[in-house]
Parts: sequence; structure tokens; C-alpha cells
Amino acid sequence: MLVLGLQGSPRRKSNTFILLDRFLQEARTKGCQTFMLEVCRKQILPCKELVICEKNGECPLLDDMHDQIYTLLRRADVVVMATPIFFYNVPAQLKALIDRTQTLWARKYRLALTDPKRSFRKGFVLAQGATRGKNLFEGLQLTTKYFFDAIGATPAGNLYYWKIEKPGDMAAHPTFSEDVRKAAADLLDPLVRRRRVLFVDRDGAGLAPMAWAFCQIHAGDRIDADFAGIAPAGTLRPFLETAMTAKGIDMGFFRPQSINELAPSFSPQQVVALGADVMETVASRFEKDPVEMTCWELPTFDTQDSEQISRLCKAIEEKVQESFGMA
Ligand SMILES: Cc1cc2nc3c(=O)[nH]c(=O)nc-3n(C[C@H](O)[C@H](O)[C@H](O)COP(=O)(O)O)c2cc1C
Repeated sequence: MLVLGLQGSPRRKSNTFILLDRFLQEARTKGCQTFMLEVCRKQILPCKELVICEKNGECPLLDDMHDQIYTLLRRADVVVMATPIFFYNVPAQLKALIDRTQTLWARKYRLALTDPKRSFRKGFVLAQGATRGKNLFEGLQLTTKYFFDAIGATPAGNLYYWKIEKPGDMAAHPTFSEDVRKAAADLLDPLVRRRRVLFVDRDGAGLAPMAWAFCQIHAGDRIDADFAGIAPAGTLRPFLETAMTAKGIDMGFFRPQSINELAPSFSPQQVVALGADVMETVASRFEKDPVEMTCWELPTFDTQDSEQISRLCKAIEEKVQESFGMA
């Protein structure tokens, strides 16, 4: 399970960094994979309102949003947005990232696609500013509400701190560490208790992501699933995206991952090998771990034949529902 932190301050070792780092440390102690995205060190072009994303769900601007950040936002189970208050909102660099998630908004509302993690992904806000006024976080509240909606995350709380200004102020705050520990426990404990299931195929780009997506859609609040390939392809296979789009499921921005890269941060309790040809490799990869192994044999199919693909899709969805008690 991935906890993604968006570090919105341009200052190094900032008050925001201290807050977010504490949250992510806590997440790691619970076994979560974490990633702190230093937003101000990334190349994120401001939205140019070309409105192309509203037609085809793709943003034509090529930068770190395209290369990395859309994928991270999609993979995350929890997005923690950490920010200083600049003029009653977030710094411009973070606002650029937020505006560019219009692409995800468009996929949801214009193209009517469902992100497989949408029903259980959570959003949390850590924020601080210099003054003491009661309205300090009002601007931020509306922005984060609609940001979380665009990225398919349910708002799940916040910690706000007033009178934090100079470097070191946050670290010296008497209760922040304990506040963060408690907030992280409340948010993450139910999510880390989900059963961890890994779907594996040869290239991590076809059957495994398909089974994974159905599993997340039907049981995301009970199962923490991921997918991987033995020798991952560079992108998901076009037949998969076409078949899932026809069912209204959004596979956009997900990428194949290697079983060797994923395994150190994700220790599955159950591994489903899609096809006998991958079972042997998967079994040897997990031979020292106490993992339940399952092999699903599926009919061979022609990736150019849409009827065969839609039968395959149905077979995988039914297999997921039977195997995980959702039938
Ligand atoms: C451009 C700019 C705008 C700011 N605007 C506000 C503001 O509207 N209200 C406020 O209380 N503090 C404001 N501050 C102060 C910062 O929120 C405060 O110093 C904060 O602790 C900085 O966090 P950091 O160390 O994580 O960067 C502003 C600071 C800067 C540089």
C-alpha cells in the first residue's frame, strides 16, 4: 500500500517537510510503502487550458506530471498533501500540480471512467502558517476538497497549525509529533489490516492488471492488491485498456512493475499467478515466504479479437469475484 506525500514548500528542511516526514515515518512503521514528492523540485508546467484532456483524457504538456506524477497519484492508496499557507492558499508550484489534475477530473466526469482505487483512496492535509487568524485555512479547504475529488480520494482529515513561521518552529511545537502519530494511526490502521494480494503475469501489462483492477473495484476496502510482471513491459497492453474502457474502468497512467522491484515494499499474503508458465518463477521467488500461492489457468486468446477479449474480461471478473468471496 502506497502513501504518497506531496511536500509543497519550496524551502529546504521546511516546517512542511518536518510535518510530512513525521507522517511518512509513522506510515513506514506500519509496513506502508511511502514516497515523498518534492513538488517544488519537479518540472510541472501550469495548465494552459487547452481543454484537450476533456476530450481524450490526456494532457499534451510533457513534463514530470506526464512522466511520473499522474502514475504516483493513481497508485497511491493515501495522498497526504502537506503545505505552508501562501496568501491563504498553497504555493504556486503545488497549485500547478493541482490544476493539472484536471486531466483526472476529465477522465472521471467527462469520460465517465472509474479509477479502480477511487472507492477507498484517502486524502489527508497537513498545513501550517504564520498568523493566528481563524480564517487562515479557509481558502485551502475548498481547494483541497476539489483536488481530492479530482484525484479520486475521500477527504479523511487534516492537521492545521497556526503561528508557525521560521524554520524550526514546527519541530519545536509541543504536540505535533504525537498529533501526527495519532492521525496516522486512525487513518492507516484500517487500511493496513486489508489482506495483501499480488497478481502476477509474464509482462505485468495484461492479465495481472486486469485481475487487479477487478479486485480493487469489487473489494478495495477489504483487499490491498497490486500487480507485477516477471519481465515487465514498458506500458500496459492496448487490448487491456480498450477492454477496460469499454467497461468504464480507467487504467490510464498505471504502469507495469517488476516483481523484484515491488516485492521488498509489498509483502503479499496471497499471490495469484496468471498462467502455469509464470507459476514456477513466482513459486521460486516466494519459496522462503509464508505465502498462499494460486494459479489461474485462462483460455488462450487473440488480442486482436474483441469478442475473445470481452469473454476473457468476463472470465477474469468472475474468477476474482468467486475467489475473493464477492460472487
Ligand atoms: C509568499 C509567502 C506568502 C505567505 N502567506 C502567508 C499567509 O497568507 N498567511 C500566513 O499566515 N502565513 C503566510 N506566509 C508564511 C508561511 O506560511 C510560514 O512562514 C510557513 O511556516 C512557511 O512554511 P515552510 O517552512 O514549510 O515553507 C507566507 C510566506 C510566504 C513566503
